[in-house]
Amino acid sequence: MTATTGGIEKAASVLRAGGLVALPTETVYGLGANAEDPAAVARIFQVKGRPPSHPLIVHIAGAEQLDDWVEKVPAAARLLAERFWPGPLTLILRRGRRVPLEATGGLETVAVRVPDHPVALALLAAFGGGVTAPSANRFGSVSPTTADHVRAELGDGVDFVLDGGACRVGVESTIVDATSEIPAILRPGGVTREDLEAVLGRPIVVPSASPVRVPGEHPSHYAPRARVVLVEPDKVVAEAELAQELGHQVGVFLPPSLADAPVKAHAVVALPASMAAYAHGLYGFLRELDERECDLVVASLPVEEGLGLAIANRLRRAAGPRLSA
Ligand code: TXA
Ligand code: MG
Repeated sequence: MTATTGGIEKAASVLRAGGLVALPTETVYGLGANAEDPAAVARIFQVKGRPPSHPLIVHIAGAEQLDDWVEKVPAAARLLAERFWPGPLTLILRRGRRVPLEATGGLETVAVRVPDHPVALALLAAFGGGVTAPSANRFGSVSPTTADHVRAELGDGVDFVLDGGACRVGVESTIVDATSEIPAILRPGGVTREDLEAVLGRPIVVPSASPVRVPGEHPSHYAPRARVVLVEPDKVVAEAELAQELGHQVGVFLPPSLADAPVKAHAVVALPASMAAYAHGLYGFLRELDERECDLVVASLPVEEGLGLAIANRLRRAAGPRLSA
């Protein structure tokens, strides 16, 4: 289902009036507000249940608008913006005066990106300004990749939902600290490390697996209700069956190499072989296992190259310690 022109106009007027609009992007759905309206931005935190110190991404209509929102653009950042926008890349740069501190969690830097989705771009063009939007989920839970996910999770908290169908990429944007001439990845995502390195012409630093680097991020981000355990790929079936025997309602992420293996578990997700298809489906799979009332998900990490790096990052976080029991 695609949003109509009337829907886009309505969404733009909701933004102008200080309301919240859920919008499709190529990565996940965002919960958008007028970036220059501190009261509207404050409502995002309230509806998400997210601490106000946790900075947001400002979505803009095109790379040519970048200088309206940031203070200084190093040549490397300019190159990345020109090469990857519109697309799943977020650049962290020095905050321009137009960006209120409410949107950056008090930081002097700001996250900016141009989403690659016709509905998001049409909304940004109709609205004319910047739209701050975190993923449209409750704080700490799995990001929504369909309009139905948004409605199920946020209900009346959002004033208008633009339906743009299922998100193509399925995992969030790659966040790159581009404040210096030596950019670094803060969160792996839809643009791969390999693609960034090819354009920059040198290796790019990625965060190590465990420490929490992006301000305010907790290890338990991107988590379904069910507990997630990560095991070696060749142990997935045995671990799942053992847990099922012990009385758990087990959901299994079955690697493609084991596609035909019979598994005695409550629910089985046969993973696609392509990393693009895996990323596209990942959050939907986790939601499906919650809906089927699994209390435990047994999965393994994919090879950490290409989109596999972002998938592994989200699985690790889903398996991380929870904020509360
Ligand atoms: O694909 C995406 O990035 C989606 C779509 C809607 O654009 N958005 C998204 O937003 O994932 P959110 O808020 O769920 O995640 C944005 C991340 C947060 O972890 C935040 O801490 C980080 O970006 N971030 C934002 N501003 C930052 C800054 N100035 N410095 C460092 N990290 C920042
Ligand atoms: Mg999020």
